Amino acid sequence: MKSNGKPASRIAGMGWFAPDKILTNTDLERMVDTSDEWITTRTGIKRRHIVEPGTRASELATPAARSAMDEAGVNPEDIDMILVATVTGDYKFPSTAIFLQANLGAKNAVAMDISAACAGYLYTLHFADMMIRSGQAKTVLVVGVEVLTSMINWKDRSTCVLFGDAAGAAVVVPSADNRGILASYLGTDGSLADLLNCPGGGSAYPAMNREIPMEDFTIHMKGNEVFKHAVKKMGDAAVIALDLAGIEKNDIDLLFAHQANMRIIDATAKRLKVPQKKVFKNIQEYGNTSTASIPLAMGEARQKGLITDDSVVVCVAFGGGFTWASSVIRF
Ligand code: ACO
Repeated sequence: MKSNGKPASRIAGMGWFAPDKILTNTDLERMVDTSDEWITTRTGIKRRHIVEPGTRASELATPAARSAMDEAGVNPEDIDMILVATVTGDYKFPSTAIFLQANLGAKNAVAMDISAACAGYLYTLHFADMMIRSGQAKTVLVVGVEVLTSMINWKDRSTCVLFGDAAGAAVVVPSADNRGILASYLGTDGSLADLLNCPGGGSAYPAMNREIPMEDFTIHMKGNEVFKHAVKKMGDAAVIALDLAGIEKNDIDLLFAHQANMRIIDATAKRLKVPQKKVFKNIQEYGNTSTASIPLAMGEARQKGLITDDSVVVCVAFGGGFTWASSVIRF
């Protein structure tokens, strides 16, 4: 799926939220057979922010959404639609988006979740653009939020060192000029679902079946297989979106690649010939926050003054499914 042409929508405000509690690599050394040295050199992660057990995804999404709405200058009643990307929502149903709608008092918004793992936020951005392009909506709130610590197996060193909790949000409104979402591209390959998943709790392995081991309710990942696909697909997706947007690699001001692994981010930057100074990284501080990764990075970059008027940014993500997505945006 793809879109390009004259921009229909733009990001009017961004926000993010990460819990205060921090889990360092040194803390993890005391929990599993790992080391700061292994985690740092293999992933780039030094710390991750984690919630207190029992915290709901909507509790992280709400302050992130409020910050984005403040920057955009929109009231709760102005929002037509709320799209939340998450794989760790509050409940199996209803959606996390409906809890966010209630928390915000966004009574005119229709609300739903999108499940596309780490690519989910860029999926929501694409669908927000489509809703505005079709005239169905004028103000869309998009959110990526995860409480990944709710599905981590703390005995599995190959996954428990990777993930953190966070939320990021954006308010998407119609574009009046040549700024906004220039192009986006989405891809899926469901034949590779076995490489990255959390099988328990759905209809295949219902939670009430006590014979299912607790490990099946946690993240399973064949890390090195996922790594190879991520490098290839993220590079390809970014190149396709740039072609669709008619933007040269030299014209990229900032690259936001899914913060899953420093080596994947660097490989994507190399493929696009983007110099390191234009590659935004906060993986060292937050780890992999799945759907929150891209909006958290963009929100932080905006706060630091790195995204200014006319900045051209490329966002690219890859996740379980597999799913992948890219966007080129002119601010
Ligand atoms: N500490 C110490 N040793 C470890 C750890 C750890 N935390 N984890 C694994 N190892 C060991 C393994 O047991 C293995 O040991 P062995 O050689 O004796 O068997 C060795 O390290 C190498 O393991 P690999 O899995 O091959 O290590 P790799 O270099 O591939 O790094 C990693 C693993 C970090 C998971 C990497 O593969 C990766 O980042 N993969 C991609 C993740 C990703 O992009 N996910 C996408 C989205 S996530 C989502 O959708 C929720």
